[in-house]
Amino acid sequence: MISVSGLSKTYDSGFQALKNINLEIGRGEIFALLGPNGAGKTTLISIVCGIVNSSQGRVTVDGHDIVSDYRSTRRLIGLVPQELTTDAFETVDHVVRFSRGLFGKSPNPAFIEKILMDLSLWDRRNDQIMTLSGGMKRRVMIAKALAHEPQVLFLDEPTAGVDVELRQEMWRVVHDLRSRGVTIILTTHYIEEAEEIADRVAVINHGEVILVEDKVELMHKLGRKQLTLDLHAGLKAVPSSLSHHDLVLTGDGMTLTYTYDTQAERTGITTLLKDLHEAGIRFRDLQTSQSSLEEIFVNLVRRDP
Ligand SMILES: Nc1ncnc2c1ncn2[C@@H]1O[C@H](COP(=O)(O)OP(=O)(O)O)[C@@H](O)[C@H]1O
Ligand SMILES: [Mg+2]
Repeated sequence: MISVSGLSKTYDSGFQALKNINLEIGRGEIFALLGPNGAGKTTLISIVCGIVNSSQGRVTVDGHDIVSDYRSTRRLIGLVPQELTTDAFETVDHVVRFSRGLFGKSPNPAFIEKILMDLSLWDRRNDQIMTLSGGMKRRVMIAKALAHEPQVLFLDEPTAGVDVELRQEMWRVVHDLRSRGVTIILTTHYIEEAEEIADRVAVINHGEVILVEDKVELMHKLGRKQLTLDLHAGLKAVPSSLSHHDLVLTGDGMTLTYTYDTQAERTGITTLLKDLHEAGIRFRDLQTSQSSLEEIFVNLVRRDP
């Protein structure tokens, strides 16, 4: 649905906010751009939405070039910006209907009603925006972004300062949209948020995408630990009597690595140690290590530019 290739952005100040970004996002995916403040998340989605010009590279949305075919790509996109910006004096209902009209869509009261109901805005539809709380204003921003039935929805830091109730409502709306084939891209600096909602995660830092991975794959890594055994004597291969264990021989045959699931009922370590003993394999030392998304993330983003 979205294809980004060789995308770079240098602001007029001379600051390079994006460096050669390449991303493919499939239709109906929930895709998280995860990265610390200043990573370039807002810049990236602003370019895709046509708010900021790129310096280099190409972006297509549903096969349409965002520059040469701006009008059709913009129509496909709904954006909920990081900053809340909405007319203070207008009513909720008017703002949402007007937004639909801006994209040349004919009125559809039933559709607008559904959006307002889904986002718990129906009872407040005749109220002026300025009378609403921050959370309600954010709901209005989401309703506004959905009014023209976009195929792609961008949510820039959607849960910053949002209460649990709204967050859950937002995820309900997101799942509902996805089930209708809408592609959702959200930015966040919360790992838990990416874990909670995304199908795939791209980690972005200092304007570079440093990792793109399936969420389940990441969670799998998260739940896995490694036991490393430094052997007394080198092995040429893992003995066949140990082949049913998930063992890898490294370090010139001096190290055996066993990977296990920390969430499993049994880790298998007791049997492994017994089997090693019976096979006559002695070890000098052993360590365990865990790779968590948190750990991966922290290591990746701590690296200097
Ligand atoms: N208009 C601008 N002019 C110059 N630098 C900018 C501009 N907008 C953003 N930046 C810089 O680009 C970097 C990325 O910003 P941004 O895309 O907003 O990051 P994020 O959304 O990940 O927090 C930051 O260092 C920011 O200061
Ligand atoms: Mg941002």
